[in-house]
Amino acid sequence: MKLTLKIWRQENADSKGKIVSYQIDNISPDMSFLEMMDVLNEELMIKGTDPVAFDHDCREGICGMCSMYINGEAHGPDRLVTTCQLHMRKFKDGETITIEPFRANAFPVVKDLAVDRSAFDRIQHAGGFVSVNTSGNTQDANSIPIDKHDADKAFDAATCIGCGACVASCKNASAMLFVSAKVSQYALLPQGEIEATDRVLNMVKQMDDEGFGNCTNTGACEVECPKGISLENIARLNREFIKAKISS
Ligand code: SF4
Ligand code: FES
Repeated sequence: MKLTLKIWRQENADSKGKIVSYQIDNISPDMSFLEMMDVLNEELMIKGTDPVAFDHDCREGICGMCSMYINGEAHGPDRLVTTCQLHMRKFKDGETITIEPFRANAFPVVKDLAVDRSAFDRIQHAGGFVSVNTSGNTQDANSIPIDKHDADKAFDAATCIGCGACVASCKNASAMLFVSAKVSQYALLPQGEIEATDRVLNMVKQMDDEGFGNCTNTGACEVECPKGISLENIARLNREFIKAKISS
């Protein structure tokens, strides 16, 4: 395949970025999108040009690092896949592909396509965990019977990989889908009940402090989420938040 790549280049957080065009050929349709980017970067380095910075780690759809906005969609044109699991066969020979970083005030660009998503880490630190007594007499989690329906829903919510595509796809840059997944995975389980009030209040406060926008039920987040996190989690987050406000 022969492609034209229009890529956002930005030296650092303070510099003004711009789109730069590159021609690339000999790309196999079976390559992943990141392998195609590797080929480009090797060519740039041979020419003595600065390679394009982008985040990646597992390249298996697990870590959530590969944040690219491809032809106007977070993680590109395929559904339920991350950029690392997107393959070049989804594009046409001769196509022009525009590649930008995930854009949101709360995700400042570090360099080129790499953005700082530590805002998500801070939201997690605010309550996205269960405190476990490790004194030696801890009850095995499997000894607590859990309704299959609830276990499945909790598991579905827990598949969120924190990639940020929901924020990048939302016209308001809202983080509600991410936060709702992190709240829901515990709200549905008895292990999450003890800290439920503090969890939802603290996580929502941190979300607001980080500068994410409000949810207006557009649903773009659900469409672009590589893990199929459902909007019903946002409804659950809202219920958990109202419950916590009344009881606090
Ligand atoms: S909800 Fe989906 S899009 Fe948002 S961070 Fe989690 S996996 Fe990524
Ligand atoms: S590199 Fe880990 S999900 Fe893409």
